[in-house]
Amino acid sequence: MLNLVLFGPPGAGKGTQSQKLIEKYGLIHLSTGDLLRGEIAQGTELGLEAKKLMDHGQLVPDEVVIGMISNKLDANKDAGGFIFDGFPRTVTQAEELDSLLESKQSSITGMIALQVDDDELLRRLLLRGKDSGRVDDANPEVIGKRIHEYNNKTAPVAEFYKKQNKFESVNGMGTVDEIFAAICAIIDKWLNK
Ligand code: AP5
Ligand code: MG
Repeated sequence: MLNLVLFGPPGAGKGTQSQKLIEKYGLIHLSTGDLLRGEIAQGTELGLEAKKLMDHGQLVPDEVVIGMISNKLDANKDAGGFIFDGFPRTVTQAEELDSLLESKQSSITGMIALQVDDDELLRRLLLRGKDSGRVDDANPEVIGKRIHEYNNKTAPVAEFYKKQNKFESVNGMGTVDEIFAAICAIIDKWLNK
């Protein structure tokens, strides 16, 4: 099984690269951001609660996203592997993900972090905010808050995987295809181990 954590700040290109990776490697894409926006679109109670935090660029509680991921793992028992996008976003989430996978005799293969400058993140997100309908893209203050949450709560998750010798990073500043090639080179190295 190939279980990849695709990591990086808001706007780093996790979703964009995930779409290409699931095609090439036959993986299931699990984006907690997409799952939460799905709950919002359906008007569920969980979605309504999450929206209040997401619209301000704040993380939703760990137990909410861990519960969603647990359900998705159970619903895809025969999958060849997963890409975790936007999850784990706190060290608690990373610990819980390890436990969940262990209970299924599985584990994380590795984390790949996309490195992108703050100026470029802001540029990409404001550009998308023009027509994405994502409240958290439209305004520089909320984008700033998302980056702040990332630096405070999420960046330490990289250390968690470094300690397990499962951390790799790529330059996330080129074209989509250049970055994809760099990610594939790492995955192929893992698969040929
Ligand atoms: P989430 O949906 O995960 O958003 P994010 O991580 O903040 O960032 P994005 O999804 O916007 O960026 P991305 O890295 O996927 O980049 P993309 O490919 O889209 O989370 C949203 C919110 O949900 C959080 O703030 C939080 O409230 C909540 N949440 C989610 N998960 C959570 C968790 N685990 N715990 C707690 N709370 C959670 O690209 C961005 C743009 O750039 C696109 O327009 C794209 O076309 C463009 N682009 C991509 N690559 C390139 C390139 N190489 N060159 C130029 N442009 C590019
Ligand atoms: Mg995304």
